[in-house]
Amino acid sequence: MATTIEELEARRQAARMGGGQKRIDAQHAKGRLTARERVSVLMDPDSFEEYDMFVEHNCADFGMDEQRIPGDGVVTGSGTINGRLVYIFAQDFTVFGGSLSERHAQKICKVMDMALKVGAPVIGLNDSGGARIQEGVASLGGYAEVFQRNVLASGVVPQISLIMGPCAGGAVYSPAMTDFIFMVKDSSYMFVTGPEVVKTVTNEVVTQEELGGAVTHTTKSGVADVAFENDIDALMATRQFFDFLPLSNRHDLPERPCHDPWDRHEDSLDTLVPPSAATPYDMHELIRKVADDGDFFELQPAHAANIIIGFARIEGRTVGVVANQPMVLAGCLDIASSKKGARFVRFCDAFDIPIVTFVDVPGFLPGVAQEHGGIIKNGAKLLFAYAEATVPKITVITRKAYGGAYDVMASKHLRGDLNYAWPTAEIAVMGAKGAVEIIFRGKTAKEIAEHTAEYEERFANPFVAASKGFIDDVIMPHSTRRRVAQGLRRLRDKELENPWKKHDNIPL
Ligand code: HXC
Repeated sequence: MATTIEELEARRQAARMGGGQKRIDAQHAKGRLTARERVSVLMDPDSFEEYDMFVEHNCADFGMDEQRIPGDGVVTGSGTINGRLVYIFAQDFTVFGGSLSERHAQKICKVMDMALKVGAPVIGLNDSGGARIQEGVASLGGYAEVFQRNVLASGVVPQISLIMGPCAGGAVYSPAMTDFIFMVKDSSYMFVTGPEVVKTVTNEVVTQEELGGAVTHTTKSGVADVAFENDIDALMATRQFFDFLPLSNRHDLPERPCHDPWDRHEDSLDTLVPPSAATPYDMHELIRKVADDGDFFELQPAHAANIIIGFARIEGRTVGVVANQPMVLAGCLDIASSKKGARFVRFCDAFDIPIVTFVDVPGFLPGVAQEHGGIIKNGAKLLFAYAEATVPKITVITRKAYGGAYDVMASKHLRGDLNYAWPTAEIAVMGAKGAVEIIFRGKTAKEIAEHTAEYEERFANPFVAASKGFIDDVIMPHSTRRRVAQGLRRLRDKELENPWKKHDNIPL
């Protein structure tokens, strides 16, 4: 018996050592933690139960039968984050470069299947050289098995990917299909083809970091949501982020005790909107002043910053916040911001997270690049997402709500449940000057100025829309938190269903 216990301990110890001390040291020398160290930072202490620690690859080619390392390059299991269940996999770069073999893929699929069965999120820590080259097509099959599960799990359990090392080739498509991607600066990269192939094919010279590093993907491409300084920051932020998410689409929202008064007045909001319509202000201020304790987890802060998305809590319960940002491109909608907003709205709707929308939008961004880039189809994504969403939707118009963008931003007509406007709101087809220049083409500058003043007087306010019932109430800015909180209470048991369909056909 004693021997058996010792053997178990020895086998466990061997598995814990992954690819051995030398490779662990090499991982540390790159400023990266090992898979097991990452898991221990991410999970609550002593909560992690590892599965398949003794799984080995089944490859005999290229001398692989001589090289078997228990665990086969990925640590999988379940545990808790702040007491709530989660399934995880963490690729272990010290074992065959974290490359994905058939068995490695089976381990990932096993935790994904379990997460789907019980209803718990999946977090993947990616750090891998890609397909296990010695295994060939068996590895490709493994990837596809994971992809299939990513798709089946989408909208059923939240899926989060942390990219903490290489992630290249077709391997990028698993994270791409998850809900959120976090990356580590100067340490992780994602690309379909690397710098050498790019140089051969297009003659472009680019570094790994420029092509697919954390900064690139959180600014230019929008592939990833947030870039963190190091592994620890990324893992600690993931713990915070996890607290906002429901465990699955059949679980209720997480709720935490809230000591921030639900009816807190914020007098400073009464002067947030500047007197001149052309002067910007920071929409973050409104979001933070409405949220519990000013706590807002922003996603994609550096990409398409003309729209703000992220999670906050009101009375301890998660809400998804979408807001135009007047400080960037005057808050107008363009291709990137429409896509960014649309995917977030769809996540919230899939997981029954109410959506609070703050509107200050002068319209869609004009330009040849926008039209040729498909602003029609891409803008329609956000419109579609809001229109199909059945979760509670509360909208507050702070200033401009012009043209088609007024309709798009969770208007009453798209089944907004509570649509409020501040007294500073201007709900109109377009800005006064542009409107007058069209209606009174050919008039003198003086006449244009007079008609502009008249148009402003007539339309640059919330009352025309309110008189039609498009706005439920014009509210004092300082009471915004109270009105939103009260609205969410009343909408908690909202029931609304879309007509039966196999699925919709959102303009992709
Ligand atoms: C098997 C691999 C491997 C792989 C790395 N290793 N990638 N083993 N299959 N794909 C092993 C190395 O042999 C080495 O083993 C150890 O991992 C560490 O690798 P190094 O090269 O020493 O590390 P580093 O210098 O940090 O470079 C990391 C790397 C490089 C950039 C990822 O290893 C690399 O380019 N690997 C190949 C990447 C690749 O072409 N993958 C296939 C892509 S196609 P030892 O024993 O020396 O420690 C693909 C298709 C997926 O992934 C399709 C899905 C649909």
